[in-house]
Amino acid sequence: MRLLIRPALLALLALPSSAGALLEDDLQTVLGFGPRVAGSPANEAARGYLEARFRALGYQTRRQPFGYSRFDDLGSDVSVAGQVRAGRALQDSAGGTVTATAVRVPGAGTPEDFARVDVRGRVAVVTRGEIPFVQKARAAQAAGALGVVIVNHVAGELRGTLGEPLALPVLGVSPEVGAALPDGAPVTLNVRVREGTVQGVNLIAFKGGGAPPEVLFGAHLDSVSGAPGANDNLSGSLAVLELARRMANTPLSARSYFTLFDGEEDGLRGSRAFVQDHPEVVAGLRAMFNLDMVGVNVMPLSISGEAALVAAAQRAGVPASVGAPGSSDQVPFRQAGVPTLFFHRGLDAHYHQPGDTALDPVLVRETVDAALKIAGEVLGPVR
Ligand code: BES
Ligand code: ZN
Repeated sequence: MRLLIRPALLALLALPSSAGALLEDDLQTVLGFGPRVAGSPANEAARGYLEARFRALGYQTRRQPFGYSRFDDLGSDVSVAGQVRAGRALQDSAGGTVTATAVRVPGAGTPEDFARVDVRGRVAVVTRGEIPFVQKARAAQAAGALGVVIVNHVAGELRGTLGEPLALPVLGVSPEVGAALPDGAPVTLNVRVREGTVQGVNLIAFKGGGAPPEVLFGAHLDSVSGAPGANDNLSGSLAVLELARRMANTPLSARSYFTLFDGEEDGLRGSRAFVQDHPEVVAGLRAMFNLDMVGVNVMPLSISGEAALVAAAQRAGVPASVGAPGSSDQVPFRQAGVPTLFFHRGLDAHYHQPGDTALDPVLVRETVDAALKIAGEVLGPVR
């Protein structure tokens, strides 16, 4: 019975997209909105656009709002000799403006290093490395500094987290900006930060009928600040839309949810909110497929997760391995007892950088092909 019906189902799933260029068009449109930081207008514009795409395929959509608090840098810098140079507040830094003399601190910035210089009432300039940021900042505070600049020891901007709130402005800068802060120079540190509430929104597409889903396909749509997020993770989001397109005229669509998570980059916020607010859905899921960074081939497509799903993949002729969860939206589902598979192609060189501007639609389609084969195997004969 299974064998008789499956070829017909696979033939349906194998139908090409109704127009070959759709994925490419969607890619250009969504990239045009800019970085999709959770809570930003670009994030909402991207979701609204993709929501309309799901609806055009005959799906209903539902939005799941959720709130959380996030630390944001609103634009911080350091001025020296009349020149304003950009930096980034370390997460959990205090805000504030300090005009004082820069003091270069030797070594890693341990309390012993601070004992060799006088930073009282001044701005301490210390190099990254050896000890955590927070230890450098605490030593600076204990020594009476009014502010701290931490200079990256590798090329590029410094983005970091203190891990606990500190009553001192702490700015991270690139090696170039660090080199422009000589010992004894008067500097103005301007750290503008805000702890604000973010309204995240998950988008869920499904076919009418109200039956609980057996498979959930998910990807996060949000990106980090300053990164266009083509591979991370418009690639996975377009794969989920493409899955919906390929399944639209098959009975499998009514047994599936297609979900675009928000707030992944702020700590898996959307997937955690989904799991928390949908216990009945979570209880009925046979599989959750998460697609994250599937548009650039750092390595061949990696599919890993639950042993039973890996076995299904192997029956479908798709290589997969039993594996640990990784750091993406499958984690909350796995923790809730749902069998998961994580699809990715590795961390590319532009990960979380302004250069994350491209993805290969062919790789996205190949990912979709693999996911469809496994889903067909998991869901079994058409009922
Ligand atoms: N896209 C990454 C996760 C990822 C890693 C996908 C490797 C494919 C291969 C994700 O958006 C991310 O950056 N996750 C964070 C953790 C998250 C909890 C903020 C990470 O990996 O540091
Ligand atoms: Zn990602």
